[in-house]
Amino acid sequence: MLKAALIGATGAVGQEFAVALNRHPWFELAQIASSQRSAGKKYIDALRDKDSGVLKWHNKEQVPDYIRDMIVSRVEDVDSGEFDLIFTALESDDARTIEPTFARSVPVISTAAAFRYEKDVPILIPGINDNHVELLNIQRKTRGWKGFIAPLPNCTTTGLTITLKPIMKDYGIEDIFMTSMQALSGAGRSPGVIALDIMDNVIPYIPKEEEKVQVETKKILGNLDSESIIPAPIKVSCTCTRVPVLDGHTEVVFVGTKKPVEPEQVKDAMMRFSRDISVQKLPSSPKDYIIVHDDPSRPQPRVDREINEGMTTVVGRLRKDTVFENGIKYVLLSHNERMGSARGAVLLAELLHDKGMI
Ligand SMILES: NC(=O)c1ccc[n+]([C@@H]2O[C@H](COP(=O)([O-])OP(=O)(O)OC[C@H]3O[C@@H](n4cnc5c(N)ncnc54)[C@H](OP(=O)(O)O)[C@@H]3O)[C@@H](O)[C@H]2O)c1
Repeated sequence: MLKAALIGATGAVGQEFAVALNRHPWFELAQIASSQRSAGKKYIDALRDKDSGVLKWHNKEQVPDYIRDMIVSRVEDVDSGEFDLIFTALESDDARTIEPTFARSVPVISTAAAFRYEKDVPILIPGINDNHVELLNIQRKTRGWKGFIAPLPNCTTTGLTITLKPIMKDYGIEDIFMTSMQALSGAGRSPGVIALDIMDNVIPYIPKEEEKVQVETKKILGNLDSESIIPAPIKVSCTCTRVPVLDGHTEVVFVGTKKPVEPEQVKDAMMRFSRDISVQKLPSSPKDYIIVHDDPSRPQPRVDREINEGMTTVVGRLRKDTVFENGIKYVLLSHNERMGSARGAVLLAELLHDKGMI
């Protein structure tokens, strides 16, 4: 077993990690850390609101037994020398200072944006851009680190990029328009979105989200050259909104392709890609990477988000686009806290272990 620590264990994504690492066949979660607010408490007590005693746990699974009584450490008390890898689920400002302190000696798998846009840092989605893993070796060399920082993308980029990859491979892509309807849990817990703002409402703005999706999509679909990733020459435009859905980001996507394409061909390309995905043998890889529905009422967050433990990107409403000369349009659903963060991060760690990087 490889020994792992988790920093930011009490937050929305940290809680998902607690579930994703329960009885994991390769990784043993041996230490957890969070802010001063939680340090020194048992995990279960750190999850309680200090005034009301209410448990701030929002998974449908119970708090796993293995972690309930673990004492939450201070970050300074996590000795990287004792671990094979560190998972981090921190807000970006905290990640910027904390992640390098570990990466100097041990691999760090991050859900934060802090390092995603640096030249020697890939943004990794297992099965989509596995060859970008090589950039981690360049990162090690340029920074003089034994470890590295390997970030996932923003959770809104994940489903988008997964569905674009097979289209790009077979038909080429020139332009992308995307409008997201993003779940509440994507905003985290501290402070998160308050009910008074979101109930009976749609909020048409999520700070920094659109820029993240635009930059990350091109980086993930880009080409690795000797020292960095050349972004894919695609135009990406998006509008990101917050809707009163608990989990699961829905995205409406319009793609202008280089070659003419029919919806049936895209369905076929997505299904072939899903069937042949490179990461099938990894423990957290879903049975279906992409599912494509013919039923025009799918995907729906309530119905589709838990398929294959939230690791499947679900597509529907594939139609020919009526504006692009060559193009198609569709709706996708991706679970922001499963494939889009904690479980996706565990899958990434599995890929890196499989490639001998951890
Ligand atoms: N939510 C999603 O769907 C999603 C998806 C993909 C990526 N992400 C990214 O994942 C990261 C975590 O998001 P989240 O939603 O889990 O945030 P969150 O709910 O606000 O949780 C933040 C965590 O960081 C801890 N923390 C805060 N300051 C700290 C410090 N100085 N030292 C150590 N720990 C500290 C908090 O501990 P306390 O509880 O002790 O305060 C908490 O455990 C963010 O970068 C976010 O953008 C989120």
